[in-house]
Order: sequence, then C-alpha cells, then structure tokens
Amino acid sequence: MTTPEWAGTLAERGGALMHTYGRYPIELVSGRGCRVADADGREYLDMVAGIAVTALGHGHPAVVEALHRAADGLVHTSNLYWTEPMVRLAERLTAAAGMERAFFCNSGAESVEAAIKMARRARPGRTRLVAFDGAFHGRTLGALSLTARPAYQEPFRPLVPGTTILPFGDPAALGAIDGTVAMVLVEPVQGEGGVRPAPPGWLAALREACDAAGALLVFDEVQSGMGRTGTLFAFQAEGVVPDAVTSAKALAGGLPMGALLARGEAAGALQPGDHASTFGGGPLVAAVADAVLQVILSDGFLPRVRQAGEALSGSLAAAVTGHPLAGAVRGRGLMQGVALTGPLAADVTAAAAERGLLVCPAGPGVVRFTPPLIVTDAEIDEAAGLFRSALAAVG
Ligand SMILES: Cc1ncc(COP(=O)(O)O)c(C=O)c1O
Repeated sequence: MTTPEWAGTLAERGGALMHTYGRYPIELVSGRGCRVADADGREYLDMVAGIAVTALGHGHPAVVEALHRAADGLVHTSNLYWTEPMVRLAERLTAAAGMERAFFCNSGAESVEAAIKMARRARPGRTRLVAFDGAFHGRTLGALSLTARPAYQEPFRPLVPGTTILPFGDPAALGAIDGTVAMVLVEPVQGEGGVRPAPPGWLAALREACDAAGALLVFDEVQSGMGRTGTLFAFQAEGVVPDAVTSAKALAGGLPMGALLARGEAAGALQPGDHASTFGGGPLVAAVADAVLQVILSDGFLPRVRQAGEALSGSLAAAVTGHPLAGAVRGRGLMQGVALTGPLAADVTAAAAERGLLVCPAGPGVVRFTPPLIVTDAEIDEAAGLFRSALAAVG
C-alpha cells in the first residue's frame, strides 16, 4: 500500500475521486453568512449558496444550534422506529405546503423517484410519464428519464420507458396529456434549464389538462422551493395546487434531505413496503430542517425574500443594461438568471470568481444567482457591481 501524499492543491490531489464534476480551482474552507473563504484566505461573496441549498447562509445560529443539539443525541435510528423531529417536520411542512403527507429521502433525485413510484401506484395500468424540455429532475435512472438532455441520457440507455417530453410553457402541447398518462412532472420555475419561470396561466392550464385526463400533477420544487422564490413553494404564488411536490436542496439548510409531499389520493398511494430509505427523515436532518423551516416561516422572512428578489433583479438589470453580452434578467424572488447573448456563462462565472463573486451557470448561456435568503441589500449591490466588472472582462 502506498502512503497518501497530502502535498499539493486539492485539484492536483483530486485523482482519488471519480471524474464526474468539472470543478473550479477554488478550495473553500470556511463560511459565514453570505461569504465564504478559500484556503488562501481570499473571501468570496456567495451568490450560489451551494446551488440554492444553504438558504440561511453559512453558520446561521438556528442551524448551528439544531445541529449541535441533535448531534449530541440520536443522529440516526432507521425507519423501524418513530422519532419526534421527523413527525414534527412532516406536520409543519405539509401544513405550510397545503399537503397532507410526507415521504422523506436524501436528495432531489430521490424525491422524484418517489413521485414516479407514487404515480405508478396511484394510476396502475397507465404507462406514460410526462415532463418538459429544458427540465432537470436529477441523475438517477428514473429522474434522468424525465430529464431530456441527450448528453445526460444517451450513455445510459435504456431508460425508463413511456416518457413523453413536451415543450415547456406551450399551451398547445397540453393536448398530449390523455388517459394513458400517470403523472405530469414540472418545475414551476426551471432552474438548470436557464432560470425560466412558467409563463403566466400555463400552470393553471396544465392543472386543467391533468384533471381532464385523470393524471397526477407533480411540481418539482427541489430548487424553487423552501422560500427561494418568495413563497414557501413557488406554486403558492400561482394559486395552482399540485397533487404532490418534491423538495430537497434547501430543505435541511445544507444537510442532505429530500421530501415528497402529497395530498388526496396521491398521499395514500404508497403502501407499507412499497418504498423506503434507510436515512430518510433521520432525527438529525429532520431537526435541522425543522429549525430552517421555522425561520423561513417566521414573521417577515418571506416578505423580505420577495423584497430582496426585487432588489436583486433590479440591481442586476441596472448593472447589465446596455452591455452587448447581456440579455434579459429573469426569475422569481432570489432565483434570478442573467441571459447572455452567447454560450459564455462559464467564462463570465470564472471572471466573477476572480473578482470575488461566486455565481454559477444555468445552461451555457445563463448565469444564475441563488444567494442565501438572508442576503442584504448591500450584498446585492456589491454582487451586481462585481458581476458588471466580470462581464466587462469577458467582452
Ligand atoms: C428541479 C430539480 N430537481 C431535481 C434535482 C436533483 O437534485 P439532487 O441533485 O439533490 O438529486 C435538481 C438539482 O439541481 C433540481 O434542480
């Protein structure tokens, strides 16, 4: 056996990891609020938040306290037993979402897998699952089957059969939803697909089409949920209620957790023994998620997210207006994207990091801003200024 060699940058030593990610050459070592620091002591304004995960920023007292308290007791029990944090979180989350029951898992992709199995149980004999172009639902085989991107799908065929991909936001396409469809899965605001909110009225039309066909309508709010767009879930601003909603990312403030929340017959579709997760809803993650949820639901928090979202889109629009590489600023709340006139998102992101600003691409031509929900107006202005400078450096 060879002795590990600890010298060198992490990028140089990264050979012990499978090469599934293209990482920036940045080694992050600490964080506080909306700022993180690298191994050289360089500070960055964090407008990524772990891709819409660390909703309360880094080191938030509610997260730290819940984590410490839970770590000093039951971290894990399995789902053979009841634990108070899991039940409390299920109660609070379903009530706030207007749902009835929760299934807890560990990631966004798993929450989508749970939705697929729920739909198969609820609609036996129906063979089709519908999703939309530009969508991203995750990398496990079921979720990948509903993520219609050739580069992601081709090497892994055969995928789950019976999937139909329709154009996102197109009312004319909804006629394809018929009595063979078990579930329609859609992001109310597409994240990875370039921060694209569904056009006004389209989700309501989708609801009608699903009702007419008897198909379940499931909203994937893995990215848009947990306060990100200014309501707990984005659908709550639309007045369109799905049969179920998926959640993950920010759910436990940075710890791995996912959930499928459902109402009506969908909530009762999965039977004992149908689905399971060893870690799902464990007492530590559930306690932290409940602490995060309480902060998000506290007085004034979501109104402030809406205000900060307006400040962010306004500051970004002002910062990029007239720049030849910049197109529209679009999004909801604190999920905003700057569309570029070409496939330059990676270059602009790299230039931003050089200036101490962390942002991330949402597709080749859109730079995404998903800061912690606690971001201040001063931090928003600072981010917009750094972004303008990054844009200027690229072209
Ligand atoms: C809308 C949406 N669904 C599902 C996923 C997959 O989540 P995870 O990476 O936790 O499996 C993502 C991740 O970006 C997402 O944005």
